[in-house]
Amino acid sequence: MAKQSSGSEPAIDSDGTSNGAGAAIRGPLSWGRDNMAIPGPSNIPDRVLRAMSHPMTDIYEGALVDVSDRILAELPVLAGTTGKAFMIIGNGHAAWQMAVDNTMSAGDKVLVCESGPFAVIWGYMAEKSGVDVEVLPGTNRTPVDPAALQARLEEDSDHEIKAVLCVQTDTASSVRNDIAALRAAIDGAEHPAMFMVDCIASLGCERYEMDAWGVDLTVGASQKGLMVPPGLGFVWAGERALAAYENAGLRSGYTEWADRINPSAHYEIYAGTPPVSHLFAMVEALDMIAEEGGLEAIWRRHEMLASAVWAAVDAWASPGVVEFNIADPAFRSTAVTTILTGSVDAGRLREMTRYQAGLTLGRGLGDFVDRAFRIGHMGHGDAPSILGTLATVEACFRSMGAPLGGSGIEAATIAISSHLR
Ligand SMILES: Cc1ncc(COP(=O)(O)O)c(C=O)c1O
Repeated sequence: MAKQSSGSEPAIDSDGTSNGAGAAIRGPLSWGRDNMAIPGPSNIPDRVLRAMSHPMTDIYEGALVDVSDRILAELPVLAGTTGKAFMIIGNGHAAWQMAVDNTMSAGDKVLVCESGPFAVIWGYMAEKSGVDVEVLPGTNRTPVDPAALQARLEEDSDHEIKAVLCVQTDTASSVRNDIAALRAAIDGAEHPAMFMVDCIASLGCERYEMDAWGVDLTVGASQKGLMVPPGLGFVWAGERALAAYENAGLRSGYTEWADRINPSAHYEIYAGTPPVSHLFAMVEALDMIAEEGGLEAIWRRHEMLASAVWAAVDAWASPGVVEFNIADPAFRSTAVTTILTGSVDAGRLREMTRYQAGLTLGRGLGDFVDRAFRIGHMGHGDAPSILGTLATVEACFRSMGAPLGGSGIEAATIAISSHLR
């Protein structure tokens, strides 16, 4: 497999210079609060930021242990499972690594379902650990095809494939895969492979039901729907993943589950000093999720915000100018939308929104660089944040003379108004 990059944001500094072609001059309308509409890290609520300023505290007993116990008790609910939740200090890659190390042995084969770059990058990591990786080819514009998955598994009559890896939402393509349908494909092939799902981009944004959908292992991270800074990764292991752990040859040091499952001291859950500030942030975020009405309410809010984005993009749409990357709304993520820009230079658009208007958009990743931009509508969002984002994008499109199909703002406000009572 060729190395793929998740395309981390290159430095475009707040001093008004960019690493693109020449310096970007900061305009008079860019001096307010930094407005972020990237698909992670998402905007952190002020109260979560304040919670992080909690002074350091005893890591053996007291407030921190209470907070940590509460998070561990509530994590399964977030993923819709009664399985075991693990936290790892690290980003999504750390959680990917923990998932693979604790369930696989060198030479085991996994089938990675492509629907954008992210599952493929997970596979690339697994390959570096000694796992044999096969990619079920897909496109950057469509979901994983359950029939293709079933057909490949039916061919694997010796059951060499130990696990199927996929993402629920690919943050680059903004596709949302139908996880229940993919489970049905595995069952249809009567194949015993474990089903491992990355919901790093979708957790806390889109409906996800690990147990009901027959997922054996789920990977998540703090920095998107959960409204907590990057630095906490999560793995949820169901019965079959925990059984696989018993014989997993890749188990090693830091990511190992053993002490994390049966800690003799609280800090062993983290294989060392707990991430104090992140844990205080996380309980604050859990309080916010509960206050909003729980996951159903949050999923619904994301659908409403996404409806405004989609209405705007539909109105802007014009052949060769603006287009959804994911044509079928049934497979569009409600956490992030990737917009293809055809004849409009997406890099210049992003530079303008950022330096002239104070709004940072997500860049196109992988195949999409300079042909697309992404709007993150995940986590801590509301009507003004989404309408402000869309209006700013439209203003910049107009300033660039983009031949839009129509006014996205009118369409977005109509969409939002339909959700107001
Ligand atoms: C779907 C998905 N999986 C995995 C990752 C990797 O996570 P991290 O960059 O935190 O390591 C990302 C990051 O954006 C992602 O969007």
